[in-house]
Amino acid sequence: MINETWRSRKGIGMSTSTARQGLSRLLIIEDSESQLRTITAIMEDEGFKAVGCTTASAALERLQREDFGVAVVDLRLPDLSGTQLVEKIRALNERVIVVINTAHSSFDSAKDALNLGAFAYVEKAGDPEELIRQVHRASRAHLERCVEGLETAVAERTQALQEANKSLRQEYVQRKRAEGQARRNQDELAHAMRLSMMGEMLSGLAHELNQPLGAICIYADACMKMLASGSLDEFAETLEKVSGQALRAGEIISRVQRFVRKEKPLRSGMDLNAVIRDTVSMVEMEAGLDGITMLLDLSDRISPITADSVQIQQVVLNLVRNAFDAMKPMETGEHILTIHSWVEDGNAATVTIGDTGVGLSDKVLARMFEPFFTTKSDGMGLGLSISRSIVEAHGGRLWATPNPDRGATFHIVLPFK
Ligand SMILES: Nc1ncnc2c1ncn2[C@@H]1O[C@H](COP(=O)(O)OP(=O)(O)O)[C@@H](O)[C@H]1O
Ligand SMILES: [Mg+2]
Repeated sequence: MINETWRSRKGIGMSTSTARQGLSRLLIIEDSESQLRTITAIMEDEGFKAVGCTTASAALERLQREDFGVAVVDLRLPDLSGTQLVEKIRALNERVIVVINTAHSSFDSAKDALNLGAFAYVEKAGDPEELIRQVHRASRAHLERCVEGLETAVAERTQALQEANKSLRQEYVQRKRAEGQARRNQDELAHAMRLSMMGEMLSGLAHELNQPLGAICIYADACMKMLASGSLDEFAETLEKVSGQALRAGEIISRVQRFVRKEKPLRSGMDLNAVIRDTVSMVEMEAGLDGITMLLDLSDRISPITADSVQIQQVVLNLVRNAFDAMKPMETGEHILTIHSWVEDGNAATVTIGDTGVGLSDKVLARMFEPFFTTKSDGMGLGLSISRSIVEAHGGRLWATPNPDRGATFHIVLPFK
């Protein structure tokens, strides 16, 4: 295919079989039939494939249809002068090498032919060996031209390939940049969702903070009384309780701060079980208010995974809060959330979050991970799609299955590396 293109584009006139022998095809133009036969026979003896014509017009017609490497031209022809024929041959295919062979020519017409691009000039009266020698030289010159043509074509092709390569590289860089932008957009969205999730959890948080704060008030009152009554041992003990409760309140606040912080996602070795426990603490109060029991069964064999702990916490929190939402409307039966973690095949951490909620209809199962799909009147429908993109960005998988009895189970698999 490429050969065909090159041949038609570059007009490299050489049949493959003669080229393989290293000899060009000859076109011999000679008005005397007997001389034509003689020359053709001599050249075929030399191994050339030769075609003979007795007129210029017949020769030009063959040149238009076929590939020849060398033309042996008689300067005296019935229909055109030899010099005119040289000109026409050159115009048709400039790769054809012309050797002039004539008995009648003057020095001038031979010079004209050479000026028009003929390669060599041979006196007919002379030794036929001279014609043979010149035709061999012409054949070599033709082969060299073909090689040059090939080299040019190869060089052009190489340049075209280099340019294609360059534009591919540019496209790659642009795509990488776009991917980076998409990743940044996704991180922004995840952050916005964390803020909105925190907003939804504010009343629960206020309740949670009220506990240590209330306890601090009670212990502080007691301290005053102890100080007045002089029971200093008890006083010191109670003061320690005050500071314990203050630490607990501080921990609640810093958990929120960590979760809503706006920093670039940072992947490092993180303890998945610690993230799960932290998340459970965040919703403990809400679970208590809704009568939900949380059961944890976490494997200590889970080695640290390389991940962004805030984003993974966001996923776990999303799934836990969805589970709560699914259980709240259930009037009968227990409300149990089960979080289970274990090592899968030695190379990935698996976490399942199961609930005893409304379960998954076929329709919900088919569409729940689509952005903006929600069955809740106040839902945004973004939690699961963001969670899945976070998990997949970490090289993991997130999916859901309906439980055989009731409720649903969500599965997170995160590779260790
Ligand atoms: N644990 C679950 N049990 C039953 N349905 C669920 C559960 N988690 C999610 N869903 C379904 O998937 C939908 C999409 O969830 P999500 O993307 O988190 O958005 P949202 O919580 O805002 O509706 C929910 O509206 C609900 O129909
Ligand atoms: Mg949700």
